[in-house]
Amino acid sequence: MTVNAIATAAYIIAALLFILALAGLSKHESAKNGLTYGIIGMALALLATGAVVINDATGGVGSGGGLAIVLMLCGVVVGALIGLQRARVVEMTGMPELIAMLHSFVGLAAVLIGWAGHRETVVVHLGEGYPQSLWNIHNAEIAIGIFIGAVTFTGSIVANLKLSAKIKSAPLMLLGKNAINIGSLIVFAALTGVYIVLDRHETGVSGTVVLALLTAVALFLGWHLVMSIGGGDMPVVVSMLNSYSGWAAAASGFLLNNDLLIVTGALVGSSGAYLSYIMCQAMNRSFISVIAGGFGIEAPAAKGEEEQGEIHEIKADSAAELLAGANSVVITPGYGMATAQAQHAVAELTKQLRAKGVEVRFGVHPVAGRLPGHMNVLLAEAKVPYDIVLEMDEINDDLASTDVVLVIGANDTVNPAASEDPSSPIAGMPVLTVWEAKDVIVFKRSMAAGYAGVQNPLFFRDNTQMLFGDAKDKVEEIVAALNR
Ligand code: TAP
Repeated sequence: MTVNAIATAAYIIAALLFILALAGLSKHESAKNGLTYGIIGMALALLATGAVVINDATGGVGSGGGLAIVLMLCGVVVGALIGLQRARVVEMTGMPELIAMLHSFVGLAAVLIGWAGHRETVVVHLGEGYPQSLWNIHNAEIAIGIFIGAVTFTGSIVANLKLSAKIKSAPLMLLGKNAINIGSLIVFAALTGVYIVLDRHETGVSGTVVLALLTAVALFLGWHLVMSIGGGDMPVVVSMLNSYSGWAAAASGFLLNNDLLIVTGALVGSSGAYLSYIMCQAMNRSFISVIAGGFGIEAPAAKGEEEQGEIHEIKADSAAELLAGANSVVITPGYGMATAQAQHAVAELTKQLRAKGVEVRFGVHPVAGRLPGHMNVLLAEAKVPYDIVLEMDEINDDLASTDVVLVIGANDTVNPAASEDPSSPIAGMPVLTVWEAKDVIVFKRSMAAGYAGVQNPLFFRDNTQMLFGDAKDKVEEIVAALNR
C-alpha cells in the first residue's frame, strides 16, 4: 500500500473521530470523551499529513525535499510550543480573545494558501496542457479561499481587540455602512469574474494585480463587518468567525486537494453557523443582521452608568441567615463568578445548603460569561451535580416561586431593562427573570455596568439587596457564617 493510500484511510478515520468529538461535546457527561476523540483525530491527521509531505519531498523534489521536511518540522515545533505556552497561561475569562486570535490564524493561512495556489498557477504550470474549465475552477477556488480567509483574518483581529477592550466595543456606524458592505461584495464578485477568465498563458502580472485588489477588498470587509457590531453581540460574532474559519479551511482543502481539510472545515463551518443561530435566538437577534455586520441595527442610545434610585445593602452574615431560612434557592452565575474564581466556594455553599434541606438549583443564561458554556464548565470543574444546573428556559418559570436568588457576578443576563425598556441596547434579549423571586442578593464589587455597558434597574428594586465585594470572598464568608 502506498503512503498516500494509508494517509487517505487515516483521514477517513480522523474525520469520523471529529464527528464523534462534536457529538461528545454536545453533552456534559460525554464532553471529556469528545475531547479525547478530537485529540486522537487531530494527532492522526497530523501524522498522516506529515507522512505525505515527507514522502512527496523525498520521492520527487530531490535536494529541495530535505528543506521542505525541515521547514515543516520547524513550523510544527514552533507552533506547538507557542500553542502550549498560550494554553498554559490563558485565563478562562481570556478564552474568547484567544479563540478570536486563533481564528485569525486560520484566516491568514487560507489567504497564504490561496496566494501559493496563484503562484503555482502563474509560475509552475503556466497553463500548458491544462483544460481551461479546470483553470476556471482552480481560479475560483483561489479567489473564494482568499476572500473567506481575509474576511476571517481582519474580522477576528477586530473581535480580539474588542473583546480584550483594546478598542471600543461600541458599533462603528459609518454613513451608508450597508451600502459599503453590499458594494464590497459586488466588487469581490466582479474581481473574481475577471480573475477567473484571465488568460493563464500570460505572465500572470494582471492576475496578481486583480488578486491583490480582491484581497484588499476582503480585508476591508472583514474589518468593517466586525467593527459595525456592538459589544453585546460579540458572542455571536465569535461563533460566526468560528464558522468562517471553518469555511476558509474547507476552501483551502479544495485548493490543496486535501479531503480531510474539506471535511473538517465543513464540520467547523456548519457547527459554528448553527451555534451562531442558537445564540442569536437566545439573544433575540436577527441571524442575518449579525452576519451582515449589524444590518438594520441602529446605534444604541448611550445609557451610561447613571444611578436609578436607592439601593439596599446586605452583609454576608445576614445573607447566610436569609439562605438558611429559605426553602428554595436559585443561583444565577455570570462573568464575575469566573473572574473571582468563585466556583469552588459556590459549590461548597450549594453543598451546605442542600445538607440543611434547602432546594438549590442553578439558572444558566446561554451567553453568561464570555464564551458559550462558560458557566457550565466552571460549575462542572467545581463538581456541582449536572442535574441541578438548568438552562434559562428551564428555570425562568420557577423563579416567581423561589425564595432567594443569588446573582453571583451576573449583570446583563439578569437585566430587566432587556424586557421592559425598548430603548435599551439589550432590548429584546431574553434574560433570567430573577426579580420575580421573593428576595434577590446581587454579588458584585461596585455599581459598575456589565459587558453591554448599561445600568441594571434590578439593583434598585425593593426585593434586591447588594452584597458588595469579591464574589469568592463573600461566598466564603457566607459558608463560614452557615457553619457557625
Ligand atoms: P456581565 O454583564 O459581563 O457582568 C459581570 C458582572 O460581574 C459585572 O457587573 C461585575 O461588576 C461583576 N464582577 C466582576 N468581577 C467580579 C468579582 N471578582 N466579584 C464579584 N463580581 C464581579 O456578566 P453576564 O451577566 O455573565 O453577561 C455576559 C455578558 O457578556 C453579556 O452581555 C454577553 O452578551 C457578553 N458576552 C458573552 C459571551 C459569551 S459567548 N458568553 C462572549 C462575549 C460577550 P463589578 O465590576 O461591579 O464587580
